[in-house]
Amino acid sequence: RARLGVLVSGSGSNLQALLDASGQEGFPAEVACVVSNVPTAFALERARKAGVPAVVVDHKAYASKADFEKALLEALRAAGVEWVCLAGFMRLLSADFLAHYTGRVLNIHPSLLPAFPGLHAQRQALERGVKVAGCTVHFVDAGTDTGPIIAQAAVPVLPDDDEKSLSARILTEEHRLYPLAVRLAVSGKVTLDGTRTRVDAQATVGELSL
Ligand code: GAR
Repeated sequence: RARLGVLVSGSGSNLQALLDASGQEGFPAEVACVVSNVPTAFALERARKAGVPAVVVDHKAYASKADFEKALLEALRAAGVEWVCLAGFMRLLSADFLAHYTGRVLNIHPSLLPAFPGLHAQRQALERGVKVAGCTVHFVDAGTDTGPIIAQAAVPVLPDDDEKSLSARILTEEHRLYPLAVRLAVSGKVTLDGTRTRVDAQATVGELSL
């Protein structure tokens, strides 16, 4: 099974979805280690409870971004990580870092990209008045939420929604989408091909979507 390193900064509910998927027979990946840049992140508790090694690499403890990323890479290498999953990880990774894991870094974002990249995606969606929102898993490039898209899921925006209710509806889908996208990427059904994703011609619609 492919060894995942999951990078987190917060609650870690998407990490939990990947931990739960790892426990299922036939899932082609397992969480090998969790790295948080925030020492108090609840995600660390989730990792410990699941018996997965968890380490803190606090960006504030390093003089430069390059030093922070070097420490991140060391933690991932020590755990034999082959794929990196960003799950509510709130730091941007440099092209130098990404070059160590080309085509093997995934991120989940709470909007239907390319709409609403960056912070507070759900608030942006409400402010814009869209009637359909959702989430996206994509390969990570050096931009902010700009990398090639692996899979998406949509939810309705309801008239009475606020940021909290819409975020919760999207998050439920995130927890289904991230394991699906990891399965697609790790099994080679969806691969990075320059600035696009390539979908295996043998893959069925049923495999590719929720
Ligand atoms: C999720 O909604 C994730 O999509 C979002 O942060 C939340 C993390 O929740 N990520 C971003 O906004 C990244 N730009 P979690 O810690 O419970 O998985």
